[in-house]
Amino acid sequence: MATPRGEFKSRLGFLFAAAGSAVGLGNIWGFPTQAASNGGAAFLITYLAMAFVLAYPVLMAELLIGRHTHQNMVTALSSLPRRAFWRRIGALTGIGGLITASLILSFYGIVSGWMLGFAASYPLDAAGLSGQAQWLTGFGISRNLLLMLVFMALTMAVVLGGVEEGIERWSRRLMPLLIVTLISLALYVLTLEGAVTGLKVYLLPDFGKILSSELLLDALGSAFFSLSLGVGTMLIYGSYLSDKVHVPSIGAQVALLDVGIAVLAGFLILPAMYVADARGVAIFNEAGGLLSEDTLIFSVLPGLFETMDTAGVLLATAFFLLMSIAALTSSISMLEVPVAYLIEQHRMARGTATLLAGGTIATFSSLIVLNFDTLFGAVITLSTRYSQPLLGLLVCLYAGWLWQRDALLAELKKTDALAEHRLFWRVWPLYVKWLCPVIIGIILAQSVL
Ligand code: TRP
Repeated sequence: MATPRGEFKSRLGFLFAAAGSAVGLGNIWGFPTQAASNGGAAFLITYLAMAFVLAYPVLMAELLIGRHTHQNMVTALSSLPRRAFWRRIGALTGIGGLITASLILSFYGIVSGWMLGFAASYPLDAAGLSGQAQWLTGFGISRNLLLMLVFMALTMAVVLGGVEEGIERWSRRLMPLLIVTLISLALYVLTLEGAVTGLKVYLLPDFGKILSSELLLDALGSAFFSLSLGVGTMLIYGSYLSDKVHVPSIGAQVALLDVGIAVLAGFLILPAMYVADARGVAIFNEAGGLLSEDTLIFSVLPGLFETMDTAGVLLATAFFLLMSIAALTSSISMLEVPVAYLIEQHRMARGTATLLAGGTIATFSSLIVLNFDTLFGAVITLSTRYSQPLLGLLVCLYAGWLWQRDALLAELKKTDALAEHRLFWRVWPLYVKWLCPVIIGIILAQSVL
């Protein structure tokens, strides 16, 4: 009983959904402090170069394979090669992708739950319910569990609606809201005392740092995580793309939006940190570097909000809602990976598939919450440091070596009769064949050693 496949109704819908997947916690809490601590604009330039020279080709590999096969990663990769052996490896790679996507969601869901908790705590506190507000922001097993379950339920509710009525509809609503909130927050914070110092730290380039290999690796790793590569997220979104859309240009727009929003977040986060500094909130660690990641989000910024009265409550609520929205448009793209597989390969109804995949991931997440110290960091390292680049490498090999050249060109010619004369056709196949695998290989080797 082949149910008809979903398809994005509009080009814009796809753009918002794919950019929604890419824009997540990584952009807002990772990029700005990383840039500030690593040479400011010099890091920005490195990051842009990484995003377009290395991550964009891999993004294109996923989008094109998806659009060509109109299938999930497992069946897509196993349908590209002619030889049975490579077909089987393709299926295994796809399975690896869906397991990795699920693992990423299992920790992402916990962190995103905290965002929801903080978002709710400020209005509750203002309404006099300070006990409840404190419970929502204090680290604890039952609080972590409850918030994760609420966030997973939201994610499942969207995915349950399917491609058009769930993913596309919610991305079209949430992404503009995210952009408007981000810009308004940044504009407000820029008017406060201390903000300009933050801007300087963010933007003044220190080119001495650009050449360190450590930094290059960092920038590449973030670019990969940020564009949701390797696990089949972009592949499945590409598979819902209409044959009329020109993939190379929409892929470039997704990458631009992702980088653009990361850069925009820098205009909020760094000025905010230096405003906090001017008000006596600690923003440096013992080594003298800027506080980052969870300390930044859950301690520096709340410290800043506390120094403001009503404005602080509004600002804090808007900020944590922004984080929750960024997280939700990313988490739905992770959940869609196993769900699409279950629907297509095991002929499940979308409802059953969503409950099964979401339920399994939430159960695993609960295990992480219950064994936080041993599992949380380990799952992050396993899925994002090792598994994701390895799978990205395999995707490049499938796009570059195991996909027949004629079939690939035919795919590009669907929307551009002159595809073979374009720069893209001259450069991209070489990239995914040689450059990307070699560089990812080097990074992997580095992180294993
Ligand atoms: N890109 C998102 C972020 O920056 C996270 C994300 C969504 C992701 N889907 C993914 C990361 C798939 C790795 C793989 O937060």
